[in-house]
Amino acid sequence: MVEKSSILVTGGAGYIGSHACKALAQAGYTPIAYDNLIYGNRWAVKWGPLEIGDTLDRKRLDEVVRTYRPEAVMHFAAYAYVGESVKEPAKYYRNNVAGTLTLLEAMQEHKIGRIVFSSTCSTYGMVEKNPICEDHPQNPINPYGASKLMAERMLKDFDSAYGIRSVSLRYFNAAGADPDGEIGESHEPETHLIPLVLKAALGKIPHISVFGNDYDTPDGTCIRDYIHVTDLADAHILALDYLQAGKNSTSVNLGVSRGHSVSEVIKTAEFVTEKKIPVIITDRRPGDPPLLIAAAEKAKELLGWETRYSDIKTIIRTAWDWHKKAEAVE
Ligand SMILES: NC(=O)c1ccc[n+]([C@@H]2O[C@H](COP(=O)([O-])OP(=O)(O)OC[C@H]3O[C@@H](n4cnc5c(N)ncnc54)[C@H](O)[C@@H]3O)[C@@H](O)[C@H]2O)c1
Repeated sequence: MVEKSSILVTGGAGYIGSHACKALAQAGYTPIAYDNLIYGNRWAVKWGPLEIGDTLDRKRLDEVVRTYRPEAVMHFAAYAYVGESVKEPAKYYRNNVAGTLTLLEAMQEHKIGRIVFSSTCSTYGMVEKNPICEDHPQNPINPYGASKLMAERMLKDFDSAYGIRSVSLRYFNAAGADPDGEIGESHEPETHLIPLVLKAALGKIPHISVFGNDYDTPDGTCIRDYIHVTDLADAHILALDYLQAGKNSTSVNLGVSRGHSVSEVIKTAEFVTEKKIPVIITDRRPGDPPLLIAAAEKAKELLGWETRYSDIKTIIRTAWDWHKKAEAVE
């Protein structure tokens, strides 16, 4: 068997990064989690070393890269609170754009020629047409989406100039937890629907706020494309294989091309948890489109990606198992 090597995983102590570390280890790689632990958790790093450091810290990056000589990078480290990005744009451009630039310069110097990047459907902005294809115009409407789009552009330019090849994976709504129950989602503050619904089911928050029920959708609430975090992690391994095979840089949506409304998610969570979830309807949030659905063919055709866990019941069930377990140890 060919010996596989180290992969630098920025943000490897975070929610999606830690699931990717598990998938990397299962694929025979050693994931090197590089995280400043601003939002990450030490307990989530189980499949390789944790190197505490910031993507903005070039000296520290150089040190870690010299130690492990990674053959590629998976870049998850970023801030990802849309509302906060509107109030504090500098924070987002510094971390998500300058942090990515610093990382790319380190890759250039150390001759690491491959990177899988965590991008987002937020780069599309106001959606003209669902399902959203990869060639849909990208006009982000908040600094978070803009910071990710700038990172995508830098990746293209670093490929043209230095031959660093990349796959930008544009995730839709990541959700769920490791089916083996080893890790799961733990954001502070939490803004994602499914963990909030489950917190309400556990009585940790009094209710769940639904932002508008008068949208032009069958039940009036917004529809999103939910994708299980383990399926996302699998796609990262396939993207890495794609780059290892010498193929060209590209951008790929990660979604399942199927939507669920906020009300449907809450109802499914009531079914899975066997608890009543108190709901309060509030005003719409500015900039929330009624419908966001991925065109998902490219991930299948180009990467050979098949989802295993992304039906909404499995997503909620794995997340629920994780939340109950996390509560038991608190
Ligand atoms: N969760 C989603 O639904 C979703 C959707 C689209 C895109 N994304 C993107 O996926 C990536 C991971 O998201 P997540 O939900 O796992 O978030 P997360 O906050 O759980 O993980 C991000 C990790 O990066 C670390 N980090 C942040 N800035 C850093 C820096 N400058 N240096 C080193 N470490 C740093 C944090 O401590 C954290 O552990 C992010 O880039 C996010 O923008 C997430």
